[in-house]
Amino acid sequence: MGVTTAELLDALWRDYTASTPQAGRIHQLLVDRGEIVHNDHVALRTFAVPEICCDVLAAPFEALGWRGRQHYRFDEKHLRARYWQHDDPNLPKIFISELVLSDLSSASQAIVTRLVSQLPPDFGSRPDLPWAGRPWQVSHDEYKTLLAESEYAAWVAAFGFRVNHFTIDVGALTTFPDLQALVAFLLEHRFVLNDRGGVIKGSPADKLEQASTIADAVEVEFSDATVRIPSCYYEFALRYTLPTGETFQGFVPASADKIFESTDVKLQESVAGPSVNVAK
Ligand code: NI
Repeated sequence: MGVTTAELLDALWRDYTASTPQAGRIHQLLVDRGEIVHNDHVALRTFAVPEICCDVLAAPFEALGWRGRQHYRFDEKHLRARYWQHDDPNLPKIFISELVLSDLSSASQAIVTRLVSQLPPDFGSRPDLPWAGRPWQVSHDEYKTLLAESEYAAWVAAFGFRVNHFTIDVGALTTFPDLQALVAFLLEHRFVLNDRGGVIKGSPADKLEQASTIADAVEVEFSDATVRIPSCYYEFALRYTLPTGETFQGFVPASADKIFESTDVKLQESVAGPSVNVAK
């Protein structure tokens, strides 16, 4: 017997807030204001290998009625992505991206291949795959090698299978007229937002505006060291109505490209001290 949609989303939320305390705090602040928080989408990351690719990670969601929609490419970050939507409009979209390994150096490819080779048999068919955690041993040196080339690769190596971010549906909030008002509220409460490409990404013309926090830093146990690294962030999305009268449900690649960087260690360092070089 499988899990229900409510059980699945609850398991994802609990796992996510355990490593992203700021999300729990922001959620509570909104609830205290009288808001009922709806999620626009939930995002997951993986490697584009047959055992654990996007489609494999989507299976537990498809089993509960989510259906694959549009595909996207992020060439500069070597990513492909797709989103899945449920017939129940109250359920969040699922956005899954995967790292294309053939674009990476042979050193990074060898590290990822070594990680994937540690997967237990049938790992990809686990019903709890989206929150299964890290199924491999990885050293801090390997993490750093990946980080130098792909922040995304390093994140997946360090965290494995878990939600990268939940995203609040800003249009469903009743006490904030727009994303700017929510951003002001978050800054007032001293949350730090990702300002790459501006705090608010996208525009009414794009039919989607997004903002996000910078990922919380958490201690991660590598095989040779325990190190504080960026974990997960919280995102905020405001969708606009299309000329057809429907709400735009897709994603804007140029905005998502900058949102991906919310887990970038360089952003955290830029917050920690003014002397750090934040050049890409
Ligand atoms: Ni997102």
